[in-house]
Amino acid sequence: NKYNIAVIPGDGIGREVMEATISVLDALNLDFDYVYGEAGDECLEKTGTALPEETIEIVRAADACLFGAAGETAADVIVKLRQEMKMFANLRPVKAYPNTNSIRDDIDFMIVRENTEGLYIADQEKLTDEGAVAKRIITREAESRIIDYAFKYAEENGKSKVTGVHKANVLKKSDGLFREIFYEVGQNYPDIEKEDFYVDATAMYLITQPQNFEVIVTTNLFGDILSDEGAGLVGGLGLIPSANIGNDGALFEPVHGSAPDIAGKGIANPIAMMLSAVMMLRYLGEVDAADKVDNAILKLLTDAKVLTGDLGGKATTKEVTEEIISLL
Ligand code: NAI
Ligand code: MG
Repeated sequence: NKYNIAVIPGDGIGREVMEATISVLDALNLDFDYVYGEAGDECLEKTGTALPEETIEIVRAADACLFGAAGETAADVIVKLRQEMKMFANLRPVKAYPNTNSIRDDIDFMIVRENTEGLYIADQEKLTDEGAVAKRIITREAESRIIDYAFKYAEENGKSKVTGVHKANVLKKSDGLFREIFYEVGQNYPDIEKEDFYVDATAMYLITQPQNFEVIVTTNLFGDILSDEGAGLVGGLGLIPSANIGNDGALFEPVHGSAPDIAGKGIANPIAMMLSAVMMLRYLGEVDAADKVDNAILKLLTDAKVLTGDLGGKATTKEVTEEIISLL
């Protein structure tokens, strides 16, 4: 198996955590070809654009893409890449690791967010004489696709339940349709338990009983908000990965940004980027390699001897990386 991986380190600690992650991947003896692309603030200064056409081509030609972080241009870069690659699903795992700021130690669920419509369609937002209007779009096609993705994800990852999240009591037509499609598509997955909650109730349940969730599927805006709440539950940006998935490509990135306050010091926590690479390995079907890295990270956090500053330790990015490689 030879994979072509697009690598976009970006700005600030994006570069540092990417270098660390590539050295972990190198230690796995997989047949990977890395093609590096530029994007972000420095790229904008140098080339006049934050996302050159050449970088888009590299991502298009790749089997998967690893993205570090960009600075001020992050939204342009990531939103454009999502659009270009039609990456319709945004995945955020919410998982408690030992010796972190997680509110419980038994949290482990996945948030599957629709990434192409809902309230986040730029040209649907308009100024009017009275103020402004934003249009919320819910199509059968996009919502069936994301709901089906969530059920498939559950089936393939040993999850027994999917929760559909909406606000169908107020948004009777749009979210009523979402709820209807949720149970329609769910019929194709008879072995998976289905439940649906209102988004406001879900925001509360995430705090009062986060251990009861396995897979959450929801529309764009609700998914955006709930995923940050999920991040807050398990504590620490330095640990949280994410994936953007489409039919023709997928991009894996940590949730954090370029962290200008610690950039260049060699002290960034590389784990969120490494867990993003683990998501990529699973996406590519390299399950053994993914488990290896996952277990090494779990062991590192359980031992709690070699940790970066954000987790209360004193280790550098390089020391954490070397420890993880030795634990593989
Ligand atoms: P940030 O995630 O870069 O940093 C927030 C805080 O968390 C900082 O104190 C930082 O030091 C800390 N932190 C983040 N990641 C860490 C890690 N791996 N290890 C240790 N500490 C870590 O978010 P902020 O400060 O809001 O934004 C900084 C820049 O990053 C901005 O220019 C923003 O536009 C960009 N950004 C880019 C994103 C992306 O590329 N996907 C996402 C979020 C922000
Ligand atoms: Mg967000």
